Amino acid sequence: MKIWIGCDHAGYDRKLEVIQLLQERNLAYEDCGCDGSRADYPVIAQKVSEGVAAHPGDLGILICGTGIGMSIAANKIYGIRAALCADAFSAKYTRLHNDANVMCMGARTLGSGLALELVEIFLDTPFEGGRHAARVDMISELEKKD
Ligand code: RB5
Repeated sequence: MKIWIGCDHAGYDRKLEVIQLLQERNLAYEDCGCDGSRADYPVIAQKVSEGVAAHPGDLGILICGTGIGMSIAANKIYGIRAALCADAFSAKYTRLHNDANVMCMGARTLGSGLALELVEIFLDTPFEGGRHAARVDMISELEKKD
C-alpha cells in the first residue's frame, strides 16, 4: 500500500510533518507536490487522486488551507471518495463506513497534533464492509451517471 500525498502552498508545512510521520512508520509514499511555492490546489488534488484511483488499496492525503478546495476537486475524479476531516470520529468512520480513499485536511484550521492523529487513524482503520459495501457501491453507481 502506498500513500499519495499532496498540498498547496497553504498546506506545505503540514505536509512535511505528515511525511515525517510516514517515514517514521516506514510507509511507502509518493509526494505529488507542491514544493512550497504557490500552487493551485485542483492540480495537486488531481495528481494525488489519479494515483489513488489507479492503484486500488492505496490511500491519499491532501492538505490545503481549509481542506475544502482539495476535497471538492478530489471528489471529481472517478473512483475517489475524499473526506474532509477535522475530528477523530470522522477520520475513523469515513474509513469504516464510507471506505474513503482520500483524506483532506485544513492546515489553517487544524493544529499539528490533531492533524497527525487524524492521519494515523485514517491509515490504521479498515473498511467495515457488510451493509456499508452496498452503500459504497451505490456511490459508484452515481459516478456512472456523469
Ligand atoms: C489558498 O489561499 C486557499 O484558497 C487554499 O489553500 C484552500 O483553502 C482552498 O480551499
